[in-house]
Amino acid sequence: MRKPLMAGNWKMNKTIPDAVSFIKELKNTVADVKDVEILVCPTFTALYAVNNELKNSSAKLGAQNIFWEEKGAFTGEISPSMLKDAGCSYVIIGHSERRQYFGETDETVNKKTKAAIAAGLIPIVCVGETLKEREENITFKIIEKQVKEGIANLSVQEAENIVIAYEPVWAIGTGKTATPEQAQEVHEFIRKIYRQMYATAADKVRILYGGSVNPCNVSDLMKKNDIDGGLVGGASLKIEDFAKLINFAK
Ligand code: PGA
Repeated sequence: MRKPLMAGNWKMNKTIPDAVSFIKELKNTVADVKDVEILVCPTFTALYAVNNELKNSSAKLGAQNIFWEEKGAFTGEISPSMLKDAGCSYVIIGHSERRQYFGETDETVNKKTKAAIAAGLIPIVCVGETLKEREENITFKIIEKQVKEGIANLSVQEAENIVIAYEPVWAIGTGKTATPEQAQEVHEFIRKIYRQMYATAADKVRILYGGSVNPCNVSDLMKKNDIDGGLVGGASLKIEDFAKLINFAK
């Protein structure tokens, strides 16, 4: 019922030529994939070129950040309609690196989420606890706050079309993946909270797992009921690895 989504978050990597040649290869490698939605999220500077290369491919384009205002004196920011203009259909919002290094809060995450939806973009809203929070046994409390405040005030229809990514901060870029059981436990909890907020939208919303997903652990993660895909950093930068992730069921 929920189509799996494999999303590559390239973070601050790849020049325009690097990005374009990656997409050329990706298109050939995954041309016959129908049952998994493929998404790449390059840096802002490569979006337009990557979009041109993605024409005639089913893979989608996403950005890694967005600002909530439409235009004006906001030096250095990119508006929702500018992302649409560059060919994006998705945007990652509230990644833990943005929360940690750039001061993003659940309040700004909510503003960005609403602005993205209003522009016709699909937000991928990231939530996740730090190692300290997990050790203090407050994972569920943290996740509940991030979901309730970051994804507040949507209609049921809007709520079913967004994507949520659970990314435990301690698993990002560390090689330390959450076990499929640890991930499933939190994904199930997120769906429970979401049901309280948006009723039946909880059955439709896709919840991705992120944090050191790689070709060896992907199939066990994807077997879990509430894991609907991956938000992948490191392993999405190498074509062989990303292709293996997309073909997780083979
Ligand atoms: P990682 O990053 O796969 O390199 O751990 C995931 C992410 O930050 O989205």
